[in-house]
Amino acid sequence: MTLVAMKEVVTAPPPTDARALRDALGRFVTGVTVVTSRTKTGKACGVTVNSFASLSLDPPLVLWSLSLTSSSHPAFDEATHFVVHVLADGQEGIARQFARSGIDRFAGLELDVGPEGIPVLPGVAARFECRTLYRYWGGDHVIFVGRVDAFDQAPDRDPLVFFSGGMRQLAPGAAL
Ligand SMILES: Cc1cc2nc3c(=O)[nH]c(=O)nc-3n(C[C@H](O)[C@H](O)[C@H](O)COP(=O)(O)O)c2cc1C
Repeated sequence: MTLVAMKEVVTAPPPTDARALRDALGRFVTGVTVVTSRTKTGKACGVTVNSFASLSLDPPLVLWSLSLTSSSHPAFDEATHFVVHVLADGQEGIARQFARSGIDRFAGLELDVGPEGIPVLPGVAARFECRTLYRYWGGDHVIFVGRVDAFDQAPDRDPLVFFSGGMRQLAPGAAL
């Protein structure tokens, strides 16, 4: 896409029916992650995120996006590292806790300590320890690109699924 075409996309009038657009985007199935980090002053931050995606294998890069209006935005903006937790089936309570406003999202949770003192959640389906490489403007979100320094997975744990605005279990069945 050329820069001119990109400008056209950005300045095109937004779809009138934002609800319908949100519903249509919700037809795309994702997992559910919690991204955690820690500011230079030691304040922990964490947020439930389904915009996580793999980006590159060589170098190993991942991305996710955060609303510019999120209360966690200033903390993630200054953080040099973050940890992505791919939540497992049964961890929907954690997903809800890290999406709630105005609470201590880490309260009552069993936590380990990860790189740079970042709080790490146990029992997840996969975990990616990343250093923040780039930040890009993405409309009302900021896109974070991180380089994966270390990762871990639990192949026996099914991931939590997000579809059409709700959390689901992976249905058992034959692979296609
Ligand atoms: C399943 C799920 C996925 C979410 N994905 C994102 C996301 O990718 N980016 C984002 O900015 N907020 C996402 N949110 C919303 C945030 O978790 C959080 O609720 C929102 O940022 C409000 O937090 P605040 O009070 O800190 O502003 C998601 C929420 C849920 C439940």
